[in-house]
Amino acid sequence: MAGASIAIAPGVAYYPGFLDRAAQEALREEIRAALAEAPLYQPRMPKTGKPFSVRMSNCGPLGWVSDETGYRYQPIHPDTGRPWPPIPKSLLAAWAKLAPGAAPPEACLINVYDSKARLGLHQDRGERELSAPIVSLSLGDPALFRIGGLTRDAPTRSFRLESGDALTFGGPARLVFHGVDRIVRGGSTLLPDGGRINLTLRRVTPAGA
Ligand code: SIN
Ligand code: FE2
Repeated sequence: MAGASIAIAPGVAYYPGFLDRAAQEALREEIRAALAEAPLYQPRMPKTGKPFSVRMSNCGPLGWVSDETGYRYQPIHPDTGRPWPPIPKSLLAAWAKLAPGAAPPEACLINVYDSKARLGLHQDRGERELSAPIVSLSLGDPALFRIGGLTRDAPTRSFRLESGDALTFGGPARLVFHGVDRIVRGGSTLLPDGGRINLTLRRVTPAGA
């Protein structure tokens, strides 16, 4: 059981308040420890090299990175050359609840948004395994999250992702376009410096391959 969820669209489930305040604080500390080992880096757009406004890091055997040569999963941090730290147990437990039956996640992308950061509409399609959902958990200031359809020009809708909320998209929605329009500054007291942390758990390689 993963608590009450709201079906946003076929394959998209929204779990408001999935993590209570104590669980959010515990996760905040686990992410703080992971970032001490694998510091935030500045991803760059494929081809143009334009920096993202979101800073990123990862935990897990694989991490998502992007630079002039493209985006990809790799086992080491692009700046330090060291392996990513392990995915915290609490996130593995969240995955087990939110993605029952899926093979374990291999990557947890850590996105850190300051109050001006945003993330353009995109698909998560760098994973070779598409049968597992994307599992997203949010901490800190709310985000205006936008989600659309399987083509860039399909109609979109937006809603707020608050601290502690979980969202999954899988099955028919695994490749939906999504992005973050803006962060609601001062909308949460969880992170002392404000801003937002989003964690997305992903299965990357086919299970048993
Ligand atoms: C992402 O699509 O990588 C992150 C989405 C979010 O920050 O909610
Ligand atoms: Fe994404």
